[in-house]
Parts: sequence; structure tokens; C-alpha cells
Amino acid sequence: MLIRDFISGEETELRRVFMSSVHTLACDFYTKEQLNAWAPAAYDQEKWISKIAALRPFVATIGGRVAGYADLQESGYIDHFFVSGDFPGRGIGSALMQHIHEVAAKRGLLQLSAHVSLSAETFFTKHGFLIDERQTLAVMGIPIGNSRMSKALLANNSFKPNPLRGSA
Ligand SMILES: CC(C)(COP(=O)(O)OP(=O)(O)OC[C@H]1O[C@@H](n2cnc3c(N)ncnc32)[C@H](O)[C@@H]1OP(=O)(O)O)[C@@H](O)C(=O)NCCC(=O)NCCS
Repeated sequence: MLIRDFISGEETELRRVFMSSVHTLACDFYTKEQLNAWAPAAYDQEKWISKIAALRPFVATIGGRVAGYADLQESGYIDHFFVSGDFPGRGIGSALMQHIHEVAAKRGLLQLSAHVSLSAETFFTKHGFLIDERQTLAVMGIPIGNSRMSKALLANNSFKPNPLRGSA
């Protein structure tokens, strides 16, 4: 597996990963109606390209195929975090999370935060995030539950994937 910076021109590939991730890996946590509101088949391509260009995500590849992507904004906010439905449970999410922690350390960030879906809550908790607030957002008029989660980073910003188990 390789993690690298996003390359301009692969926005459509990332859209495929986003669609696959939401519709395959989050389907036990949301209704079909909610999944379609979150990740609709019809979308504004220009808007998506601008969004991805602004996010400048990190991209995980396996054998040249995009297996997942995630971003880290200057504030420490993670906006997108998606693993392809073709590569679940193979450590791609954890590798992206580790990369985010390494970049956060280089940038001297003291906190990470994200609006985390119900489907990713356990994963983020495993990586040391705590729930600040549960909320329900209206997306295309459909109520969708998620949580605002955050993680305070240590002064030396070391990566602690699972503080509950005491592993470092
Ligand atoms: C959540 C997600 C990023 C995890 O990616 P992944 O590559 O499958 O995760 P990993 O293989 O690195 O798993 C790491 C650990 O988290 C656990 N985990 C992953 N997804 C989980 C889930 N949905 N529920 C419970 N545990 C989960 C794994 O079992 C593993 O635990 P272990 O270390 O004890 O073995 C991925 O399932 C995903 O993209 N989900 C759908 C989209 C989504 O909700 N994105 C987040 C938007 S905020």
C-alpha cells in the first residue's frame, strides 16, 4: 500500500471510492434514502472537482488502484475519510489515519476533529477520538445522524491508535 498526495485529474476516481464506501460500508448504519442523500448518483461534477482540489486529500493505493482517501485541513479538521468498498478491513483506514497523525505532527497541530458517520464512529474511537456531540443534519432534506468527534494531540504528537488497549 502506498499513501501519497492527491494528483489533479483523479477526482472522478475519488468519487467512485466515495460512492463505493458510503453505499457498501455504511449501509448497515443508514437507510437507503439516507445513503442516497449522502452520496447521490447524480452530482455536480464541477463542484466535486473544486471540493477535492480544495481538500487536497491523501490517497491510498494498492497495486495502482485507489483504495481510499482522506484529508487534513489546516485547522486539524478531517473533512473526508473514505475507504473503498472493495478494500474494507485491510488496514487502509488505519494507514490513512496514521498518515494524518504524521502530517499533523509535522504541522504542529494540537487537535484533530471530524464529523464522523455512525459507520465510522467505532473506527475513530479506536484511534483515540472522543465524541463531543451527537447531531442530526438535514442533507437534501433527509435527516442523517453523525457525531462531532475530536482528539487532543500530545505535545510530541506521537501516534496512539488505540489508547483503550494501552498500545502505543
Ligand atoms: C470506517 C472506515 C474508514 C474504516 O476503514 P478500514 O480500512 O476498513 O479500517 P481498518 O481496516 O484500518 O480497521 C481498523 C480497525 O477498525 C475496525 N473497524 C473498521 N471499520 C469498522 C466498523 N464499521 N465498525 C467497527 N469496527 C470497525 C476494524 O475492525 C479494525 O479493528 P482492529 O484494529 O481491532 O482489527 C471505512 O469502513 C469506511 O470508509 N466506512 C464508510 C465511510 C465512512 O463512514 N467514512 C467516514 C466518514 S466520517
